[in-house]
Amino acid sequence: MLESKGGILFIAGIGFFAFAFLSNVAVPMIMFKELPEQTVEEVVNDRIMYQFSELSQRYPEPFRLAFGEPSEEACADALRLGRQVYIGEACWHCHSQFVRPVSNESRRYGPVSETWEYQNELQRPVMFGTRRVGPDLSREGGRHGNDWHAVHFYRPKTIVPESPMPEYPWLFDGAPDKPNKRGLALITYVQWLGSWLDSYPYYEELESIQSEGY
Ligand code: HEC
Repeated sequence: MLESKGGILFIAGIGFFAFAFLSNVAVPMIMFKELPEQTVEEVVNDRIMYQFSELSQRYPEPFRLAFGEPSEEACADALRLGRQVYIGEACWHCHSQFVRPVSNESRRYGPVSETWEYQNELQRPVMFGTRRVGPDLSREGGRHGNDWHAVHFYRPKTIVPESPMPEYPWLFDGAPDKPNKRGLALITYVQWLGSWLDSYPYYEELESIQSEGY
């Protein structure tokens, strides 16, 4: 077998596959076998609660119909539904959720993704995505306001004229200021992405607004 070029490449191929399996599956499994998997309720944090309450103030009627009061339980429900919408609308066709340790990606997207970040119920299965037509979303939370997302989901071209992202009018009851339950849930999910990191944008600013009794 080693006499031919093809044979050498074949063995090298199996070797690389085995190495990838070892480094990407076996080693992380051993490293993190003690780390408990968090439930959705456990990943609800102050940052996403801030955004969720903001949604309830900005869209009081649709919000009340969909989730009632902005409680932590309601937020967990919204996150579950939001993730289902993300999957159902195939957002993962164009968006990844993994900042790679190459090509200075962290300069554009924020801190490189780490294994522990995926150790929770909302990452089963992980939405790594298939390719990047649009930007990586793993640190999307807090980058834009809720109303920005509403307008953008309703019609991306309103904000980015050359955007190839599809419109999602069925996440609204008629207009961009009337997101329905699925629309509100998707915004909550997108605002949650990266909320487990201190690099969550504007958070200190948000905190000081909150402490002033907003
Ligand atoms: C056909 C590919 C495509 C699909 C499908 C798609 N997007 Fe996008 N998305 C893009 C592109 C390209 C951009 C950058 C231009 C823009 O902002 O519209 C973008 C931008 C975004 C942004 C703004 C990122 C930022 O901070 O500037 C968010 C958030 C987003 N998409 C979420 C979603 C969600 C959620 C879905 C599913 C409902 C989705 N996208 C479906 C291609 C896509």
